[in-house]
Amino acid sequence: TRPDPCTVVIFGATGDLTHRKLVPALYNLAVDGELPPGVKIVGFARRDKSDEEFREGLEELNRKVSRSGHDDEVWSSFVQSIHYHRSEFHDDDGYRRLAERLDEYDRERGGKGNRLFYIASAPEFFDDILEHLKKAGLNKAKDGCWSRVIVEKPFGTDLATAQHLNHVVSKTFEEKDTFRIDHYLGKETAQNLMVLRFANAIFEPLWNSNHIAQIQITCAENLGMEGGRGGYYDKAGALRDMVQNHLLQLLSLVAMEPPTDLSADGVRDEKVKVLRSLRQWDTAEKVARNVIRAQYTAGHVDGESVPGYREEDRVDPESMTESYVALRLLIDTWRWSGVPFYIRMGKRLPKKATEISVHFKSPPGVLFNATPGGLPGNNVLVIRIQPDEGISLRMVSKIPGTSLRLEPVKMDFHYSTSFGKSSPEAYERLLLDAMAGDATLFARRDEVEEAWKFIDHIEHAWHQSDQPPAMTEFVAGSWGPKEADQLLKEDGHEWRRL
Ligand code: BG6
Repeated sequence: TRPDPCTVVIFGATGDLTHRKLVPALYNLAVDGELPPGVKIVGFARRDKSDEEFREGLEELNRKVSRSGHDDEVWSSFVQSIHYHRSEFHDDDGYRRLAERLDEYDRERGGKGNRLFYIASAPEFFDDILEHLKKAGLNKAKDGCWSRVIVEKPFGTDLATAQHLNHVVSKTFEEKDTFRIDHYLGKETAQNLMVLRFANAIFEPLWNSNHIAQIQITCAENLGMEGGRGGYYDKAGALRDMVQNHLLQLLSLVAMEPPTDLSADGVRDEKVKVLRSLRQWDTAEKVARNVIRAQYTAGHVDGESVPGYREEDRVDPESMTESYVALRLLIDTWRWSGVPFYIRMGKRLPKKATEISVHFKSPPGVLFNATPGGLPGNNVLVIRIQPDEGISLRMVSKIPGTSLRLEPVKMDFHYSTSFGKSSPEAYERLLLDAMAGDATLFARRDEVEEAWKFIDHIEHAWHQSDQPPAMTEFVAGSWGPKEADQLLKEDGHEWRRL
């Protein structure tokens, strides 16, 4: 069923996210006939632009990035629903005019006054926007209608700022109408994690410390600081940019207990318990032992020579911001007692790939340790989040022949061949869910705050302690610093080779 007719207002509409992700997602929903009838999209931003100019800019990007290509006919009818609204973010009059405009669209549509406000501006305007929405009464839904807000990342820069933002949001919208977006939760393969674990009988009985030796989450990116990104990134760093949100969310999905039902709170109750059970690295010494930070130095990626992190555009030449981080995490629950989880994330690694690998314990060696070559490793279940979405299971097999020798083989499932069509982009699913009022794939207030609590200790040790743990280095285009290899070696493990 399609969601109710509504108007989507995007704050920060001239930005990259709107052009590269949000509007192409809405366009693809239009292609698939999933947008509600009479939908209106209003871009709210400060620059002076006409509807025409705004639409042209959107079209240019949609041609480049749209998942299903660009169909002139679909676009020309879709684009009629898009309008531009020029205003400063703190200008009362701009919001008053917006309210009038929205009323007018409601009338055109026969009275349906549902509104979805998408805050995608630079983060320093989040408070202003929320406060002005309230002042203009736009946060209050009309009778029988709804008014909701999607808040983009970054959701704060530490626990205190996240709590403050949560406070401002909660003064303006009820929690059920608040959608803190984390686009990793909208990725098809992330959604499939729960299905893999709970719709199959064979994994869940093994999904614990009796059978699992360790779990790794790798998020590799080959990109560096293109397009002026260094300005934002050098203030954030890998830990805040991706671990606090995307990767801790993936960790929660892998480690959580089965929820009692699939409701938004059913699922989020279990996810937040994982975050609450994380052992805290709350001293500089614990951080030094469990967390490795690094920057890339000049090297080669995809055959091209690239500068080091400190030489990047808009990055401080003496920056102490990490472009790479590797962590050991321990989850103090019955299920996971003693099982290390490892997360690594870095820019300028050899390729773009995000995956989760579950490494099972070795069977007793009594039978095969003595065969030539011995037992070649153990079972590994790999969940490829992107690209080449899929799941593979590594098993040990006998090499055909008269002698007994063993070799690992793989059972492999690829989304592309099994389902034969491209998966929707994360933002498509998430926008639709927000229009339908389903917050299951959005972060709840307590999840965001628990995640920050864990991150804050590490940031504190790095930037405010007397003996900050070292910043290490690796050559761009390689798989990270040797210290990160050492981290696993100490536990008798090694990073999976991608
Ligand atoms: C964003 C980060 O949230 O996610 C970026 O700010 C990162 O630094 C991006 O590159 C990765 O998203 P995806 O979907 O390309 O893996």
